[in-house]
This record gives sequence, structure tokens and C-alpha cells, in this order.
Amino acid sequence: MTEDFIIFAGTANPELAAGVARELGVPLGACAIERFPDGELSVRLDEPVRGREVFVVQPTGPPVNENLVELLAFADACRRASSARVTAVVPYFGYARADKRNGRREPITASMVADLMQAVGITHVVTLDVHTPQLEGFFRIPFDSLSAVGVLAEALREKLPEGAAVVSPDAGRARMAAEYAQRLGAPVVVLLKRRESGTETRVTHVVGDVRGRPCLIVDDMISTGGTIVESVKALVAAGARPGVSVAATHGLLLDGARDKLERAGVREVFVTDTVKTAAEGRAQLHVISVAPLVAAALRRLLSNESLGDLC
Ligand code: R5P
Repeated sequence: MTEDFIIFAGTANPELAAGVARELGVPLGACAIERFPDGELSVRLDEPVRGREVFVVQPTGPPVNENLVELLAFADACRRASSARVTAVVPYFGYARADKRNGRREPITASMVADLMQAVGITHVVTLDVHTPQLEGFFRIPFDSLSAVGVLAEALREKLPEGAAVVSPDAGRARMAAEYAQRLGAPVVVLLKRRESGTETRVTHVVGDVRGRPCLIVDDMISTGGTIVESVKALVAAGARPGVSVAATHGLLLDGARDKLERAGVREVFVTDTVKTAAEGRAQLHVISVAPLVAAALRRLLSNESLGDLC
């Protein structure tokens, strides 16, 4: 493994970046990030990167645009300072849901983000449980989406009630649900949903038998909590045992989401630290670190080894 690498932390999740650096036994790279009164941003690298492998850890969660521009500025600084390569470690990839045009005269913002990342000299992207795996196709550089399912399933193993079913909240998450189910030795149930408006969805079918069973809903992300609340309602209506558990890689848990989940009767929520979680510290919320997983991936990249079984 090459020793000549450096890890910079953006401001989106410095705790995770520090955890990754600790796992790899290196200090974080020195840098200064400043925001000016007019909203502009300045990034300065305070150590040389010439000829070195650079990793910039910066999830593009809320505030998405701020965090994205900061990542781009970091990469541009590295490229202009002659780094050998710049790997963007984007544990949560903002705009991943904007992967197609839902109507006329709309952008495909995920594709635009991919273009911007490549334009500033990012040479590799490492992310986790990206919303749509096809996002890789927007890039002409290596793009690896690691899976946090193993980490979360391990944390859930002792806590899950006997006989629980793993539930996918929509058809798109069925494969992820199957992976959890295989690791936890549980059956899979899939919900089918219909989008009623930009912010509302309705579950139309529960595929599988949940009568009398405890349920674990799994998803890539919890943003407003709306998807989980609708899923809980549908499961309870179909006879599931009240007190549903939830596991999601990205716990954005935007304003009020945690209260919404509590009111819906969610028993426990398991998320990772891909983004800083506003509701951290609240009872029934378990935040599991992906720092060891990300560090393992970077170690392999530095040794030119495959990430296959981490994805
Ligand atoms: C949707 O397809 C995603 O996988 C998530 O289910 C969704 O984005 C979560 O958002 P919210 O918590 O706002 O319902």
C-alpha cells in the first residue's frame, strides 16, 4: 500500500473523516475553509499534495449545494496543486434521486453533478448505498458504491424480535431488503407505492404475509420520514405487529422526521454516520459508524485491490 496519501475533511462530516483517518493511522490533512459574508467559500490546502493520492471526505447532504461546492473547490485546489489523483469520498451522494427527467423541461441534476465532479479533476468517487446504482453511468471515472447493509445487519442481529420480516418500502429497494433478509435469516416483504404528489406517496400493495409478525423496514435513506410513516401504516393495516423497526444507511432525519417516526409507533431506528444526524443522542436512535468500512475501501484502493465484496 502506498504511504503517500493524504485525507482532507470537508465541513459536512469531519467526525467521519477523522474516524476514517484514525482507522488508517494518519492525521487529517491541514486545510482552512472559510465562508465569506456574501456566501462565497474559500478553501486552502495547508500542506503539499504534489504527486500524492488525495482523498476528500465530504458527503453532499444538507445543505446540499454548500457541501457540493465545497467538495468541488477542494478537488480544484488539489488538481491545481498537482496531486496525483483526487478521490472524492462522498458517503451520502446528494441529488442521486434526480436521475431522470420526470417531465419536460427538467434537468437531470445527478448527471450535472457527475459532470461538475469530473470537470474539477475528481478521478474516482467512493460513495455508500447510492440511491440508484445506474448513477455510475453518468461518470467516465471509477465509481464505487459501498454497501452498509453488512454493518447495519450486524448491529441489528441481537436486537431484532424473533420472527421479524424485512420490508422493502418500494420495489426499488427489494434487492437491498433481500440482502438484509439473507444476513438476518428473515423473510422479505415488498410494498408497492404510488406517488400522489411531489411530497406524498401511498402504499397500494403489501406483497407477502406480515400478519402477527414484527417488521423491519429497510431503506437507503430517511429524509422527511414520510415513506416510513406510510409504510408503517400499510403494514399495521395488513396485520403486522405494532412497533416496527427501521434501518437506513443515510439518516438525514430532516426537521421533525424523528417525531413523525415516533408518533407512527416506530420502535427503533438504525442509521449510519454517512451524514451528521440532527437527531443524534435521542433514545431509540442507533448511529453505527461506517468509518471502518470506508477505511477498508481506501486501504484497498491504495494497494490496487478490488472493492468487490465491500459493495
Ligand atoms: C425513495 O425512493 C427513497 O428510497 C426513500 O424512500 C425516500 O427518498 C425517503 O424520503 P422521505 O423520508 O422523505 O420519505
